Amino acid sequence: MLRVAVLVSGGGTNLGALLDALKTGKIKNTEIVRVISNNPGAFALERAKSHGVEAVCISPKSFPDREAFNRALLSGLKECDPDLIVLAGFLVNIPESIVKTFKNRIINIHPSLIPSFCGKGYYGLKVHEAVLNRGVKVTGATVHFVDEGIDTGRIIAQKAVEVLPGDTPEVLQRRVMEQAEWIILPEAVAKIAAGEIKIGEA
Ligand code: GRF
Repeated sequence: MLRVAVLVSGGGTNLGALLDALKTGKIKNTEIVRVISNNPGAFALERAKSHGVEAVCISPKSFPDREAFNRALLSGLKECDPDLIVLAGFLVNIPESIVKTFKNRIINIHPSLIPSFCGKGYYGLKVHEAVLNRGVKVTGATVHFVDEGIDTGRIIAQKAVEVLPGDTPEVLQRRVMEQAEWIILPEAVAKIAAGEIKIGEA
């Protein structure tokens, strides 16, 4: 049984896609053992609870400094003993201590075709604003391993999405979620659970 911890910050639609895929059997032999958010108001926490998944808030605001938060986040992850950690709309940079502890066991969904529109400052709607400002005709989403950099880890999967005339950042974000993120993230977890994608020490 693949034990999965999911880190979230917002609405949790990618978490929802994972939960749906577990229910339909698209993802087999897997259990989401804990959902952790840095944001106490994240609707993703409600999604977890409504599916009977333990939902924990570890907020930087509850700690005297970033180092203390990082230690608490690492403890919160170790407690649930995950085989895999999924960053699903998680907006906090993962500290090196966690990347090293869970080497090649952390994956992230990014709402662009890496290496375009990624790295420091590219998250959420900002990604789609940059896509529209540049005038590219194709964008998409990427699932990648998390390493010490920002959006620099080995790419696992990508899916392209058309940019349409008149798109706003919000409309484009929704299309990228529906046509790419909510498809390739569950697919990646299903392949990891099936052993088709290897995780852990390389
Ligand atoms: C979305 O922009 C997604 O592309 C990115 O985080 C944002 C919120 O995702 N990964 P979610 O609805 O909280 O899963």
